[in-house]
Amino acid sequence: MNHDQPVDRELNRTAVTAAEIAREPSTVPDFDAVRRDFPRARTAAYLDNASCHPLSVHAAAALHRYIDWTTHDVAEPWWPGWAAARDQAKHLFAELINAGPEEVAFARSTVEAESNLLNGMQEHLAGGNVVTDDLHYTAALYNYRVRQRDGLDVRIVKHRNWTLDPADVAAAVDRNTRLISVALVSNVNGLLADVKALSDLAHAHGALLYADIIQAAGAVPIDVRAMGIDLAACSTFKWLMGVKGFGFLYVRADLQGTVVKPTQHHGGVHLNYPPWVEEPDPDAPEIVFAPTPGPACFEVSYPSYEGAICAQESLAYINRLGVANIRSHARTLTDRLQEELPALGYPSITPRRNESPIVAFKVPDPAATQTRLRAAGVNVAMRHGDKMRISPSVFNNQEDVERLLRALPPAGTGHRC
Ligand SMILES: Cc1ncc(COP(=O)(O)O)c(C=O)c1O
Repeated sequence: MNHDQPVDRELNRTAVTAAEIAREPSTVPDFDAVRRDFPRARTAAYLDNASCHPLSVHAAAALHRYIDWTTHDVAEPWWPGWAAARDQAKHLFAELINAGPEEVAFARSTVEAESNLLNGMQEHLAGGNVVTDDLHYTAALYNYRVRQRDGLDVRIVKHRNWTLDPADVAAAVDRNTRLISVALVSNVNGLLADVKALSDLAHAHGALLYADIIQAAGAVPIDVRAMGIDLAACSTFKWLMGVKGFGFLYVRADLQGTVVKPTQHHGGVHLNYPPWVEEPDPDAPEIVFAPTPGPACFEVSYPSYEGAICAQESLAYINRLGVANIRSHARTLTDRLQEELPALGYPSITPRRNESPIVAFKVPDPAATQTRLRAAGVNVAMRHGDKMRISPSVFNNQEDVERLLRALPPAGTGHRC
């Protein structure tokens, strides 16, 4: 970092304009060049982005700029130099999901955000029920189980043949349903929920629709308005190509503070008496509480600036590539996996023509398969017993898929795979 250069000039170098934000690129990006942005692509056929997405060199450089500054130059007031990146992260995320910036708050974790939402909806949920499904994230289901133990009527709909039938959800919904909660894209098998059908169902019963979007944001197009999503949350370490412990919460504007109340303190306090002020305001109380308006009412204290700076850079990057282009690229890879793995004897548990970058297959011997793949320099996830989850992203190519396929013997041929 040039120490003579003000920090905000450094930031301006990477800032994207509002016009860039609004425009979905019409040209297909050069995905070979994209691959060069991800050093992890050089060290393995890394096909486990649904677990943890690697950083691009651009996001890493943005983080380094912040770390250099906080290492060498930190001084009060420290926030003005970074506020633009922080705020732009929120704006870019709002654009990504077609929300207003006044509907987005910083969050720390998807699971925590969903839990906080439920805590803030006590009145709305009272005497009612929540409908969710068994392809939702396990920690979210655990959260519902605990609430069920504490008296909330929770209905967990079971998937059928690895897909969620809206009719099964409809059978669980009644006039007491207050919330339908789903993962927009399931971490188990990548199933993209028919969220429009589910939100229509919810709204027809006076209920709300919450979507866990961590496996979707940055990987599949999200339009909270068109999809009827009322509440959503994600952190950034998966398809948003950011870090853990930082993310976003979306709360539809009219629900903020009404149906969904803040559950933690927010805002500030002004002590209107000496020695805190020399001349107290005689018309004001001694202690003036000033709650934060808008979505910041769901935030407490500072967000992670490391998280926000990294997210700003990665969201701008995703914006330049275009989510539709990202989706098309991943589809070429997952289509091939859906074609070739079942033919090798690995049955797919992801429906065909499912629109997400996650595909999962049953394997006869998960531990041995994992050992074999790692030895071949291939990273995938083994989850939920005998399920192999493969999740290619923007930097993956057909050679990565080829490497995976070469390392997998046909199942049932006597090879210990
Ligand atoms: C669908 C889903 N939801 C939530 C999480 C956890 O995210 P966070 O760390 O942001 O709570 C994961 C992580 O694997 C996930 O796949």
